[in-house]
Amino acid sequence: MDDRLSTEKTRTDAASANDGAPGRLGVLTPGMGAIATTFFGGVLAIRQALGQPIGALSQMATLSLDQSPGETQALIRTVLPLARMEDLVFGGWDIFADDMYTAARDAGVLEPATLEQIRSGLEVIRPMPAVFDRNYVKRIDGPHIKTGRTKMDLADQVRADIQQFKSAHGLERLVMIWCASTEVYSEAGSVHQSLTRFEEGLKNNDPGIAPSMIYAYAAIREGVPFANGAPNLTEDIPALQELALEKRVPLCGKDFKTGQTMLKTVLAPAFKARMLGVSGWFSTNILGNRDGEVLDDPRAQKTKAISKLGALEHILNAEAHPDLYSNMHHQVRINYYPPRGDNKEGWDNIDIFGWLGYPMQIKIDFLCRDSILAAPLILDVALFMDLAGRCGWGGPQEWLSFYFKSPTVPAGAPAEHDLFCQLEKLKDRLREASLAMAAESAESSWRTAN
Ligand SMILES: NC(=O)c1ccc[n+]([C@@H]2O[C@H](COP(=O)([O-])OP(=O)(O)OC[C@H]3O[C@@H](n4cnc5c(N)ncnc54)[C@H](O)[C@@H]3O)[C@@H](O)[C@H]2O)c1
Repeated sequence: MDDRLSTEKTRTDAASANDGAPGRLGVLTPGMGAIATTFFGGVLAIRQALGQPIGALSQMATLSLDQSPGETQALIRTVLPLARMEDLVFGGWDIFADDMYTAARDAGVLEPATLEQIRSGLEVIRPMPAVFDRNYVKRIDGPHIKTGRTKMDLADQVRADIQQFKSAHGLERLVMIWCASTEVYSEAGSVHQSLTRFEEGLKNNDPGIAPSMIYAYAAIREGVPFANGAPNLTEDIPALQELALEKRVPLCGKDFKTGQTMLKTVLAPAFKARMLGVSGWFSTNILGNRDGEVLDDPRAQKTKAISKLGALEHILNAEAHPDLYSNMHHQVRINYYPPRGDNKEGWDNIDIFGWLGYPMQIKIDFLCRDSILAAPLILDVALFMDLAGRCGWGGPQEWLSFYFKSPTVPAGAPAEHDLFCQLEKLKDRLREASLAMAAESAESSWRTAN
């Protein structure tokens, strides 16, 4: 068979691989607050046909496998063997022991009428005791936490939890997604530079090792893909990237790109495409959920603000276009305002200029629902990380940048922030995955037959 025909055959095989991934997939989240419960509850509601998975590419978007003119687009979940929503099993850790019905009710995102219909499914999901350190999250505290002599002991306990959860639920595979509070700002220090130093640090209780890093370390050691939905340093440190590459475990993050930054990474490329100047971009947010309360601490807010600031500068590239962008004032504010609960208001004032430098203004007032925007991203990231793991792709998964404000990329590589360039990368990688999965399935049929 010539190469072209063989590729086409493989693609046809891939297109017929629509019976999903084998077995059940566990989705473990350190942090079981607003975004995690909206995700768990949403999947349960969708299984009962109470709603649709709106916002999830894995369920609603299409892909053409070979991009030839006239080739029809098919739903991604029909051309790739993704884990099916019926096969997802949820678990995780939190500093509060409340079951997921109680936690979802307290988060106040899903309507009480919806919650009643999925109550039994949520009530059985109970958090395991958390790895928690008040030096990293200042504004909250809870009783449901692990104790251990060293940070390595805590990592071992998380590893034991993962193993126990896997066997108790008869799972084939797992993924872990950090959905916990934003930790205080920190930069990589010497303990983070290599796996050897990091493991010594775990044994010596190095203060530079955050709880999120302990979960990530435990996940990677167990061969479980790890994603970071918050802006903490975590999976960005060389030690964890080294371990992920060595064990061929996928990593991605960080900080879900849900509302304001999603719009920024659509608008900024448009201004740049038209060579319009930007003199200022002032973004402010008011939010009243527990996330807002944690971000009210200046050190946690710094972690979030830095994550929100990076994309714009990167897209506009003032170095290449100094006349248009070098004097831009970009400011981001986050204010805790309890009356709003999870219904955040993200307000942007953009000062742009055009022909002969004449100024113009754009105002955006995004009355969004934070967790409603985040839940479909958690679903996609869980299913695509699982796919990456089955393809044997270890280390940072740059193709998942689409989902994050501060994409985790291999050391030294530049991050892509433009949402549509990110979408293209995502789709290209999904095409590669379809080939990899088809080749794998052809090989395993050959092995069975011979
Ligand atoms: N909602 C969005 O649009 C969005 C977007 C990007 C990032 N995020 C990030 O996602 C994270 C979760 O957001 P949320 O709205 O669900 O917040 P939340 O406060 O409702 O939930 C976070 C949960 O994490 C728990 N927690 C804190 N530290 C923990 C630890 N060490 N181990 C286990 N549990 C721990 C808290 O008790 C809480 O239940 C935050 O970091 C937030 O910044 C959210």
